[in-house]
Amino acid sequence: MNIVLLGAPGAGKGTQAAKLVEEFGTPHISTGDMLRAAVKAGTPLGTKAKSFMDAGELVPDEVIIGLVTERLQDPDTQAGFILDGFPRTSAQAVALDAELAKLERPLDAALLVDVDFEVIIKRLTSRRMCRDCGFIGSSDHASCPSCAGEMYQRDDDNEATVRNRLSVYERSTAPLIDYYRGCDLLVSIDGDRDVDEVYADVKRNLGL
Ligand code: AP5
Ligand code: ZN
Repeated sequence: MNIVLLGAPGAGKGTQAAKLVEEFGTPHISTGDMLRAAVKAGTPLGTKAKSFMDAGELVPDEVIIGLVTERLQDPDTQAGFILDGFPRTSAQAVALDAELAKLERPLDAALLVDVDFEVIIKRLTSRRMCRDCGFIGSSDHASCPSCAGEMYQRDDDNEATVRNRLSVYERSTAPLIDYYRGCDLLVSIDGDRDVDEVYADVKRNLGL
């Protein structure tokens, strides 16, 4: 499966990707996770990206496009990939198409996880992540249910930054819905249901 996960911040892209990875072992390429790892490691990329991320703004296209293009050269992505959080602008979508055409690995689908913004604001302000294994949970989890690690709140999950991320999404990323509809690749799923119900729908729509 060569797929792109589309959807607003907090729609549940990471949650659904984790389930696909667990069941199918397909490599998960999350640009947000890659950037957070770079910030944690204190690399030049991380230093450059941090101020954009903390403000809820997008990291410049050329930085992100380079990162993903490089990752797509890795042999483990040849049998399939789940792109999560990329593309997020028209320039990124065009660059991805060009790279996949060159690699002769076309996309099978662009899966839109659709959730209302008010639901998203509640989800993101109560989201907590595991520092050790990356488990995505909520403020209901005192410690990680998977590895007992410490749960923390992302720096960009405060309400003001979440609202800015949503307006950036509306302006820069939502136009990609029409872009992928035009390529006949768009599959839209109601993401405001129980995680397992959404997942069943994801699989049904991907023919898995
Ligand atoms: P990124 O890490 O990609 O963040 P995002 O798109 O804002 O997405 P999230 O990780 O916040 O949400 P998600 O949809 O994965 O939801 P999740 O499953 O966690 O990007 C962060 C930043 O990096 C960007 O702001 C930007 O600065 C930069 N960046 C990244 N990619 C870039 C790019 N391509 N170009 C430029 N800049 C880029 O779920 C959210 C919460 O809801 C969790 O608590 C979860 O438990 C809960 N939840 C999930 N599903 C359900 C459900 N069905 N019912 C109830 N609760 C649910
Ligand atoms: Zn954990």
